[in-house]
Amino acid sequence: MEVIIMKDKIQGGKKACDIVKNELDKGAGVFGLATGSSPETLYEELRKSDIDFSDSISINLDEYVGIPADHPQSYHMFMQKHLFNDKPFKKSYLPDGMADAKEEIERYNEILEKNPIDLQILGIGTNGHIGFNEPHTPFNLRTHKVKLTKETIEANKRFFEREKDVPKEAYSMGVQSILEAKKVILLAYGDQKADVVKQMIEGPVTEEIPASALQTHPDVTIILDEQAAKLLS
Ligand code: GLP
Repeated sequence: MEVIIMKDKIQGGKKACDIVKNELDKGAGVFGLATGSSPETLYEELRKSDIDFSDSISINLDEYVGIPADHPQSYHMFMQKHLFNDKPFKKSYLPDGMADAKEEIERYNEILEKNPIDLQILGIGTNGHIGFNEPHTPFNLRTHKVKLTKETIEANKRFFEREKDVPKEAYSMGVQSILEAKKVILLAYGDQKADVVKQMIEGPVTEEIPASALQTHPDVTIILDEQAAKLLS
């Protein structure tokens, strides 16, 4: 794992944007994308840049179950707003939160099989989740339907009017699907992530901390701000 510590998330976004550009120049054509606040400064830099994704494919990590693509809090809408409206891709894939689970999981796994990811962008939940792979999710899963933990529902309720509106389930690429990406960039900012960042990088590889699986991947870059890095030895 390469760990890069930047002054703040603005600088982190710029650094990640340089890596995306570099990979695109080297021929990367399939980008795995994430939602959440962590990639927002990267997406802002991408929007301001002259990067052209019109020949590229994007595949998002996850989507809530039970809300339609045009729901204001869907990850479809998040991606439109933060990236796709300004930087359209040739084709963008996200799980369909309203689809039948069995069919949707098969469809998404086929998409991933046909379009191996060159560069995967990730954030990390305070409990160590990546995508929506909550603690104790087996590492060998591809796309699956997930029951969100109380901690994740709590963390995401700020985006919804009432806590009871926060979806309780999601579709997510599995840890195995994430590990199959050629290159991974994980972004984490702020001191609420410091503890889990330490566990991800310096702790044991364990299904208790899904992000610790990244220790087994040959090409991972972790971009942190000073607060998120403050407990690293
Ligand atoms: C959500 C997403 C993850 C994201 C995580 C952290 O649960 N499914 O992909 O990494 O939250 O979010 P944030 O970056 O806002 O801290």
